[in-house]
Amino acid sequence: LPTSEGWSTRLTLFKNCWLRAYMVKNCLLVQDNFKPRSDDIILATHPKCGTTWLKALAFAITNRSRYAFADHPLLKKNPHKVVTIIEAKFISEHGGDLDYIESLPSPRLLATHLPLSLLPPTVSTVGCKIVYLCREPKDAFTSMWHFENRIRKGDPISLEKAFTMFCEGCSSFGPFWDHYLQYWKESLARPQEVLFLKYEEIKCDPLMAVMKIASFLGFPFTKEEESAGVDKEVVRLCSFKVLSNLDTNKTGGVERAGMIFIEHSSLFRKGEVGDWANNMSNEMGEKLDILVEEKFKGSGLKF
Ligand code: A3P
Repeated sequence: LPTSEGWSTRLTLFKNCWLRAYMVKNCLLVQDNFKPRSDDIILATHPKCGTTWLKALAFAITNRSRYAFADHPLLKKNPHKVVTIIEAKFISEHGGDLDYIESLPSPRLLATHLPLSLLPPTVSTVGCKIVYLCREPKDAFTSMWHFENRIRKGDPISLEKAFTMFCEGCSSFGPFWDHYLQYWKESLARPQEVLFLKYEEIKCDPLMAVMKIASFLGFPFTKEEESAGVDKEVVRLCSFKVLSNLDTNKTGGVERAGMIFIEHSSLFRKGEVGDWANNMSNEMGEKLDILVEEKFKGSGLKF
């Protein structure tokens, strides 16, 4: 399989998707053995598009009757510890098979960075719900460049080199355009089962986004909950300000297959829209805008 060096780990091109080399085995296991259930909720994201945020939101929304906000699991655990990643968790922490995922009681709240094309086709037929989150590509790239340099062991990857690779589609779980488009098309074909979200829309009106996610998942807020401010509590608990200041998110981290160590703090950098302009030149910005327009032309997906 073709490989590429430059990011924090070597990437391998597997079925048109650039994966961290250790991920190929996991991906094969998922394709062959992951059995989606009709009541699964799958949070699918392209890396650096707000996965941590979406996990916190979905967990807080679907478990709101179980926990008091003053003593909430998200105050003590990083969001990645409360929502299982289909393709990573079992390999790193659970002995190399899917038993752990299979042992989780229904309804399961799961997450994935895999493109739709690398999930078993039954995810599209069994009736499970998918919430997909993407982000304006210049900001997604900027976030990725900072993150890769945080987790990287050797010399940093330059902005220029990272940018060239990203625009060639060579980034973790890339090309980003295929990733976005696959879920976009699926959301148009099956709107009841696939909700397509952008980071920017959650930033712009988090309360509206929380209501939308809750209704889509079949957990709409009641009038009583709204009067009691439960929806606003979810927004507050999951906000960048609250999560990034918790001890649990300032310390510790997760290891992935002995290859990379992701400090929890590296998942909370700035959490803003438009930070690309503080990092990339205008020429780079324009180049990526043109690429995005070209790739998404005719799809109806715009940024
Ligand atoms: P920045 O690097 O632009 O700050 P992921 O969780 O998919 O790895 O994405 C990480 C990005 O989401 C980072 O973006 C991070 O700061 C931002 N983020 C994390 N938690 C957030 C939150 N609660 N609200 C808004 N943005 C958040």
